[in-house]
Amino acid sequence: MPRAFIKGYAKINLVLDVLQKRPDGYHEVAMVMQAINLTDTIILEKGSKNWLYTGHRHIPVNMSNLAMKAVVLMQKNFAQVPPLSVILHKNIPVAAGLAGGSTDCAAVLLGINQLCQLGLSLSQLAELGAQLGSDVPFCLQGPTALATGRGEIIKPLAPCPKLYFVLVKPNFGVSTPKAYGNLRLDEIEQHPSVQRCVDAILAADKTGVLHSLGNLLEHSTFQLHPSVQQLKAEMEDAGAGHVLMSGSGPTVFAAFDCQKQAQRFYEQMKNRYTQVFLTETADEKQLEERVQIR
Ligand code: C5P
Repeated sequence: MPRAFIKGYAKINLVLDVLQKRPDGYHEVAMVMQAINLTDTIILEKGSKNWLYTGHRHIPVNMSNLAMKAVVLMQKNFAQVPPLSVILHKNIPVAAGLAGGSTDCAAVLLGINQLCQLGLSLSQLAELGAQLGSDVPFCLQGPTALATGRGEIIKPLAPCPKLYFVLVKPNFGVSTPKAYGNLRLDEIEQHPSVQRCVDAILAADKTGVLHSLGNLLEHSTFQLHPSVQQLKAEMEDAGAGHVLMSGSGPTVFAAFDCQKQAQRFYEQMKNRYTQVFLTETADEKQLEERVQIR
């Protein structure tokens, strides 16, 4: 029986701006999103009933799991999708601001598309995925994109020039609804510039990208969890020049254009914190090769 092996790539936000609260409860955002080389692996196989296995103790194996929601959504829309077994190997930390759940959801959509030979385009899959989470369309369409609306409207950009990242994940998760809910937009005077980051990416200007990093949700998450602000300050004090919280947090990353510097910083952080990752921008080729049928 053929199986689909899918690599799901995590994301970071190089810029995250929040423009306004919408009547539907979501927030209007403008973000530059980047896929990174930190992956979950999903194995899909046709079976006699829907079934999910993960060895990870913080991941639900019921219908609240986005990977299972993706299976059921595809079965509802396409009669040729049979019951499926899903094995999820988790490396991406959970509730971390790295779109781990959306990554797995996108991976399942991609895997079903190939395993069941549905022939759907990425934008057709993204339209389905947007029903399950705002970050899912990006996870299908990276590696670098401008995201607007509630995050689901994706405009692919030229791939970001190679950057290296040291990620530090505190030992707790942040709820995205809480981070958005705690935001007081009227009290915020300065917004990060999405356009500056887009221009730097289009010009393949690494230094420009590094100088444009910004995340409006830091205001909110730092208030809810002061230890995240402290972590950012500690990473800056340790010598990193470009440090930012990803998404709604609590992961904080330091960005480098030099691999050796990133490696040295990684060693330093590993001595201090338990969940530390050294990674880099994922590229188009990696995303093109993320599904294999064997
Ligand atoms: O779309 P997703 O299910 O990932 O969003 C989770 C929650 O995060 C939403 O219910 C909402 O509270 C908040 N959110 C928001 N504005 C966005 C994205 C998410 O307020 N653009």
